[in-house]
Formats: sequence, C-alpha cells, structure tokens
Amino acid sequence: MSDPRQDIFSELIVKTREGDLGNMDACGEIEAKIYHCEDIFQDEQDTIFRDGAFIVGHHTMLKSAGDHMAFDHLGQPIILTRARDGKIRAFLNACRHRGVRLVDGDEVKRRPSMVCPYHNWAYGMDGKLIAVPLEESFPHLDKSCRSLKALPCEVRHGFIWVNPNPEGTLDLDKHLGDIGKDLDAFGVDGEVFFKQSLKRKKTNWKLIVDAFLDGYHVKRLHKHTVGPLFIDCAAVSEAKGVHIRSSVGRNELVEAFELTEDDWDYRHHCTFAYQVFPNTTLIFHPDYSSILSVYPIAPDETLVSHICLIPAEPENEAEQAHYERAFNIIENGVFEAEDFFVCEQAQKGIATGANDTFIIGGHEASLQFFHQILQQQIQEKRA
Ligand code: FES
Ligand SMILES: [Fe+2]
Repeated sequence: MSDPRQDIFSELIVKTREGDLGNMDACGEIEAKIYHCEDIFQDEQDTIFRDGAFIVGHHTMLKSAGDHMAFDHLGQPIILTRARDGKIRAFLNACRHRGVRLVDGDEVKRRPSMVCPYHNWAYGMDGKLIAVPLEESFPHLDKSCRSLKALPCEVRHGFIWVNPNPEGTLDLDKHLGDIGKDLDAFGVDGEVFFKQSLKRKKTNWKLIVDAFLDGYHVKRLHKHTVGPLFIDCAAVSEAKGVHIRSSVGRNELVEAFELTEDDWDYRHHCTFAYQVFPNTTLIFHPDYSSILSVYPIAPDETLVSHICLIPAEPENEAEQAHYERAFNIIENGVFEAEDFFVCEQAQKGIATGANDTFIIGGHEASLQFFHQILQQQIQEKRA
C-alpha cells in the first residue's frame, strides 16, 4: 500500500518544479458579512456546532484511570473522563440529583470519583452513580437510572472526539473518510500531549480558519519568523470530503526532487496541514504537531485552543527545554504575535464596513473550498 500522502506531495513537487503554483480557477470573492453578522453566527451555531464530530483533545491528556476535566467550549458543559477500564468518556457536566455542575476547571484532576459539592452524590469515571449520602431517604431511587448523561465520544487516531448533542451520533468513518489514513500515517496516536494554550481572541472563528488555509501570507506576515523556512506559495490543497488537506513546500522540498518516493519525508520536505471540519487545523511540523481548534463565542470573539503534541515524553531537561522553546516560538512568536494579531486587526477592519466582499486570489484557493463546504453543510443540516 502506498503512503496516502504520496499523491498530493508528488503533485507539489511537479507544480513547484514547473512553477505552476496557485489555483486560478478558485479565485473569487467572500462576503464580509459572514464574519460579523449575528444571524449568520447563530445559524452556524445551530447547524454546525450543536451536533457533529469535534476534536476536544488528545488521549494522552487523560493518562490514567481517575483523570477527568471540564470542557466548556462546545456550548454544553462537558466532563471528559478516563475510567478503570481505560476508556475515555464524555458526559454532560450536571449532577443527576438536582443538576449542579459537577466538575470545574479545564485542568486535569485525578480522583477515584467525582463528588457533587451540593449533597455529595458521587459518580465513577464511567458515569455511574456510586454513592448517595442517606440513601434510605430516597426510597424510590434506582441508582442505575441516574448515571451521568453520556455524550457520544470516541478515541480515534489519538484524538478524543465528542458530539455535544446527547441525542446525536458519532460516525467517524463517515466523517473522516480518507483523511483517517493520513492521520495514521502521521502517527498521531503514538504522540504525547506536551502543552496547551487557551486564549480568547476578538475575532470571528472563520478568520482564524482562513489564516491557516492561506499560503499567500506565509513569506509576508511571517517574514521575520517562519517565512524564510518555506518556498513562496509552494502549496497544493484539496478538499477531501468536508475536510481540506494541504502540502506546503519547505526549502528542503528541492532535496525531494532527486529522491524516490520511499525517501520522501513528509515532515522535512514539506509541512502538511489539515482543516478538519469544522473547527480544527492540524499542522505537522518537523518534530512536533500543532492541534489548533477554534470555538466561536460571539461573531467577533473566539476561544482558541492550541495543543502541542510531541513524539515521546521528554527524557531529560535538554529535551524538555527544546520543546518548551519550540512551543514558545510557534505559540507566542508566530500564532499570537502574527496570525491572531492580523485576525483581530481584520475583525476591526471588517467592522468599518469598508468592504462588502473580499477578493480571493489563486494562492488562497483553499479558503474558497472551506467557505463552500461550510455553506453546503449549513444547508444540509437545515434541510
Ligand atoms: S445536586 Fe448534586 S448531590 Fe444534590
Ligand atoms: Fe500564518
């Protein structure tokens, strides 16, 4: 079986060699109102964010039995747990006695059970109600009927996927289609959680998605940071189902011109990025991975989660320091100071009403793919 990344990478080599970069057929315009209109925002919330498959973390964030955390970024208050059977589960964060929020804080806690602060009902990490103080005072209580309300949840390709709709489904084979093979090829399952940053940004969520689909800005906005590592606009992008994958040529791409497929290195000669619909971008850097998820708060406000995965637990201080440095450069020097900065600046510019539409060039083609897919999905869910 050939590597699932081979075809797009081979296209990147051919197009870069021939100077045939960009996709002029996908030029067009995007309406400015999609970034600030309250009705459009609400429509996206109702159709896209209430019911669907979302990456909420990596399985190594919950390492051991008893690990659990609150997750509040998908409209529903959620608890993520790992139980003694090793399974990771998701529940609504609400006690089944009189509804009190059970777990606070998105840091991971390790305890034998989750105890409600109000009357101390206790739940196992599998969601079962295990203890009720003065239980004899509830003559009609059947504890087995008062487990925490479970949400569809599955670990696949290393990621924890959740549907925030308790009545919803989670069909990851259907949702992921072919890109599942790519995620396996990158070995995300074997990587380990290193660090996460969570930040609120005054920008529409789609402006951040756009920024990570846009190869045109890399050598311009990032000219003092990562820009010099890449060949200008050497990128090939394609829609894969509802997702978009891109292969972006690093300077080392020219080395691959002389190599056979077996020697292509998909983290060294290029950088692969995946827009996993609707709100996560995966970036496979040379020696770590960035999982960037955006959670809409308001038309002009978004919570951004950046999870850094590394190949293995650091074995010594030098390795730890290496990844600390790498995370700091990409998170603060590049994403925060450059990408998120321009997204917030764009939101300010959009609010002036100076533009009814934005013009999209051939090196920004994948933005068009994303906005078309989003529109199709909104219409399908509405139907
Ligand atoms: S509301 Fe949770 S124990 Fe009473
Ligand atoms: Fe960027």
